[in-house]
Amino acid sequence: MPGFGTFTRVAKEIRRDVHAAQERDPAARGVGSTEILAAWPGVHAVLAHRVAHALHAAGVPLLPRLVAAASRLLTGIEIHPAARIGEGLFIDHGMGVVIGETAEIGDDVTLYQGVTLGGTGFACGKRHPTVQDNVTIGSGAKLLGPITIGHGSKVGANSVVIHDVPPHSTVVGNPGHPVRIDGKRPEGPDADWVHLPDPVADAIKGLASRIGALERALAERGVDPATVPAGVDDAEPQPLRSARGPNPAGG
Ligand SMILES: CC(C)(COP(=O)(O)OP(=O)(O)OC[C@H]1O[C@@H](n2cnc3c(N)ncnc32)[C@H](O)[C@@H]1OP(=O)(O)O)[C@@H](O)C(=O)NCCC(=O)NCCS
Repeated sequence: MPGFGTFTRVAKEIRRDVHAAQERDPAARGVGSTEILAAWPGVHAVLAHRVAHALHAAGVPLLPRLVAAASRLLTGIEIHPAARIGEGLFIDHGMGVVIGETAEIGDDVTLYQGVTLGGTGFACGKRHPTVQDNVTIGSGAKLLGPITIGHGSKVGANSVVIHDVPPHSTVVGNPGHPVRIDGKRPEGPDADWVHLPDPVADAIKGLASRIGALERALAERGVDPATVPAGVDDAEPQPLRSARGPNPAGG
C-alpha cells in the first residue's frame, strides 16, 4: 500500500512535469496547470510512464505494458515501461516519439516530436541511449545505440546520432557531428559539417552557367537564342521501357 511519502513524491513529480511545460513551451506561457494537465499530450505520456514504470519496478505483470499501450494510443508517444526517466522531462507535441527499454534520461530534458531513442539491431542488454541532464533533442532526431549524450547538449532536428556527444555541444547532420563545443566551432580540416558539398546542385549550377555562355555566344553571332529550335521538350515523348512485355521494374 503506498504511503504518504509516495503521494508527496508523486505530487512533486507532477508539479515539476507541469512546470517543465510552462517553462519550455512558449505556447504554454500563462497557461494554468489544470489546462496543461488536461491538454498537453507530452505531459500525459510522462505521467502515464511514471505509473507504468512504478508498476514495472514492483514486478506487476502485464499492467505496465497496458498502461504504456493506452498512453501510446492517446498521445502517439511510445515509452517502454522499463525506461528510466528523470524529473522535468518535457515532450513537446510528442507524436512519433519512441523511447526504448534501456534508455536513460536525466533531469530537465526536452524532446520534440518524432525523436527516437532506439537500438541499432537485435542485441540484448543496454542498447539504447543515455541522455544526461538539460539536453534538448530536435524534432525527428534519431539517437541509436548505447551512446551517451553529454549534459547541456543540443541535437539538431533530423540528426542521426550514433556516437557519444560531448557535454555542452551542438550536434547536427546525418551522421551527427558536433558543430559547437562549449559554444565554439570545433577546429580541424574536416570540422565544417554544416556546409557540406552538394554535388547535384553544383552540377546544375555548372550546366546553367554553360547554357548562359552558349546563349551569349549565339547572341554575339546575331542569333536570338529563343528562335533556336528546341530539342527534348518539343520532341515526341519516348517511352522509358518497351510498351510490350513485363515491366522490368516488377510493376
Ligand atoms: C540545433 C539547434 C538546437 C540549435 O542549436 P545551437 O547550439 O543554438 O546552434 P546554432 O543555431 O548556433 O547552429 C549551429 C550551426 O548548426 C546549423 N544547424 C542548426 N540546426 C541544424 C539542423 N537541424 N540541421 C543542420 N544544421 C543545423 C546552423 O545553421 C549553424 O550553422 P553555422 O555554423 O553555419 O552557423 C536547432 O537548430 C534545432 O535543430 N532545434 C530543434 C528545434 C525543433 O525541433 N523544433 C521543433 C518545434 S515544433
